[in-house]
Amino acid sequence: MVVQSVSELPLAKDFSSFISVEASARKKSPLKSLLVFMKGNMISLGGGLPHPSTFPFTELSSVVKSAPAGTTALKDTKKENIETVSVPLDPTDGKVESLAASLQYGGGLGMPSLRNFCKTHIESMHKPQYQDWEVIMTCGNTDSFTKALALLLNRGDYILIEKWAYPTAMETIEPLGITAVPIPVDGEGICPKALRQTLDNWGSEPHQTPENKPRVAYLVPTGQNPTGATMGLQRRRDIMAIAQQHNLIIIEDDPYYYLQFSIDDGWMPSLLSLDTDGRVIRLDSFSKTLAPGCRVGYATMNKQFREYFQFHTEVTVQQPSGFSQAVLAEMLVGHWGQEGYTRYLTERVRIEYLNRSKFLQSCLRKYVNSELISFVEPSAGMFIWLKVHVEKHPRHGQVTDSALMLELFNACIAEDVLLTPGWQFSTKPKPQNADLSKVQEFWFDDEATFLRATFAYADFPQMEKAAQSLGVAVTKAFAA
Ligand SMILES: Cc1ncc(COP(=O)(O)O)c(C=O)c1O
Repeated sequence: MVVQSVSELPLAKDFSSFISVEASARKKSPLKSLLVFMKGNMISLGGGLPHPSTFPFTELSSVVKSAPAGTTALKDTKKENIETVSVPLDPTDGKVESLAASLQYGGGLGMPSLRNFCKTHIESMHKPQYQDWEVIMTCGNTDSFTKALALLLNRGDYILIEKWAYPTAMETIEPLGITAVPIPVDGEGICPKALRQTLDNWGSEPHQTPENKPRVAYLVPTGQNPTGATMGLQRRRDIMAIAQQHNLIIIEDDPYYYLQFSIDDGWMPSLLSLDTDGRVIRLDSFSKTLAPGCRVGYATMNKQFREYFQFHTEVTVQQPSGFSQAVLAEMLVGHWGQEGYTRYLTERVRIEYLNRSKFLQSCLRKYVNSELISFVEPSAGMFIWLKVHVEKHPRHGQVTDSALMLELFNACIAEDVLLTPGWQFSTKPKPQNADLSKVQEFWFDDEATFLRATFAYADFPQMEKAAQSLGVAVTKAFAA
């Protein structure tokens, strides 16, 4: 492989025609523009920044696990080393951050120390194939996704999405007057053939016009929620080729990227790393790698998109929490370093979920009739997508598949095991006037013959008990 220097890489293509009406109307905050002068000998009587002496916080300190030094397995949590990460009020030699800076108003890009760390991480893990890519700190992928939609889509637009999709994404899309165009998926995620067909044949239905042809795809390529599917390398290449051919922007929502169970051949290349045009907006989050309550993530995109993204940040959240950013910066930059963070991901987080996944799968195989419930072994993420073979039910054909699924769901509740109903991931429009909170009375979409199980949270004995209970519930539900 020929390694190109950054200056040899192409610049991002011009995607200015993709900017939404809302984003085009956003202007750089004149107030924030003053921040760039706050250096050297400048005395500011300009910005309305509170004086740090009024902050009641004089030091922020957190006891954290040390980054693994070598090959320690997570099971040995009792033996884990810990260390104290502290952030003083004033800038201090040997410290990455000060509270005076991190608890102050800042620019919408996020704290430079943490942002540079994330940028270096992206550079080494994903090696973007164009020059002018940038990173902006976010409050996690939920925040980034909302902003990516606002950046690219207008009311009345269509967005390509996996047929079974992350509910929050759909709940974000629908109220904006954007319509999801579901694309069939298989064990490796979105099917290229179906994606190509949808785009090639756009215009074949009355509501489809050249103007409203989808320009954006929302994809979760690794450990997809809910199916657990991970795109292989060829699948990723095929999707990128279609994106180029049909000039699509891809929102790569990848919170489970580091939860890949096999990295013997290296980490699976991200869509960002296959993108030579600057058409991928990659969303990374610390939610699944460190802790969701940090509410910190980062997004990587071409410079032009980043500017609008930043304007949006400046008038909404302003910046991710200074507390979170300060602790993360001190821990990641000051203590763990890039290597320590990568080792934590590789040897701790990944291995923990790998062990959990294997265990739940073995319990399911042991206790649940595989003729009635089957699944594709996940190779990343937190989920197992259980296919219920309703066609084997004695009353199949006499009542709807939805009715049979609802019975099974209630049988599970009766046995004290909770799984997420497949309909919650359906991309079909939900029936109007239905009370979706009445989960014991409601099932919709006869195709949603699935239950989603996660191995992320329950402890090992609980997972075994849950699988046993599911086995009993399935036997009972299929006996009637
Ligand atoms: C596909 C997907 N995107 C985003 C999120 C939320 O991420 P964050 O906590 O970074 O907002 C989740 C969490 O379940 C998810 O499954």
